[in-house]
Amino acid sequence: MKFFIDTANLDQIREAQALGVLDGVTTNPSLMAKEGITGEKNIIQHYVDICNIVDGDVSAEVISVDFDGMVREGKALAALHPQIVVKIPMIEEGIKALKYFSDEGIKTNCTLIFSTGQALLAAKAGATYMSPFIGRLDDISTDGLNLIQEIREIYDNYGFETQILAASVRHTMHVIECAKIGADVMTGPLSSIKGLLNHPLTDIGLAKFLEDYSKGNQ
Ligand code: E4P
Repeated sequence: MKFFIDTANLDQIREAQALGVLDGVTTNPSLMAKEGITGEKNIIQHYVDICNIVDGDVSAEVISVDFDGMVREGKALAALHPQIVVKIPMIEEGIKALKYFSDEGIKTNCTLIFSTGQALLAAKAGATYMSPFIGRLDDISTDGLNLIQEIREIYDNYGFETQILAASVRHTMHVIECAKIGADVMTGPLSSIKGLLNHPLTDIGLAKFLEDYSKGNQ
């Protein structure tokens, strides 16, 4: 399972990268705005800065909603750095753009997936990744993890190579349940990755080992 971090915060990206378990980064216009990154020039530079920190794929989202605009923007984003994955919204023009980039050999991430039908279309269009937003489904009393399970089943039925990128992950249990289902990737905040470390018995056990070691060396 690949671990992506879902942020535009460079310090958090550095911290996750330093752990040695990071496989990539996802961003979106809201995450950029949260870090105060606005304006095309600054956003472009920020993508390059992120690529220079991590080793894996970095999703960069188009803001056009028409095919020509998505293709123009996506090509410019992909040309920025070999790690860039063009992030395309799940809309009719987006499907056409996914197919276009797939034929061109440019990696894509189809975003804002909330149903199995959308997941099927993204795979048919040749998306590299597709992002079902599980946290946002949970927010409206709909089982986000169930969607991941259903997409896994459909993709396995036909051997679709599109990777299931579980997005809008909010906490460690989302990560663990996605791993049990077999999501290819998860993207979440730093806390959802670092939280996996925690167990009180580990802390108690380590304290005891260190105490006993120091006794033996007195
Ligand atoms: C995915 O790529 C999105 O950036 C993201 O996971 C959205 O998550 P949110 O629902 O926490 O905003």
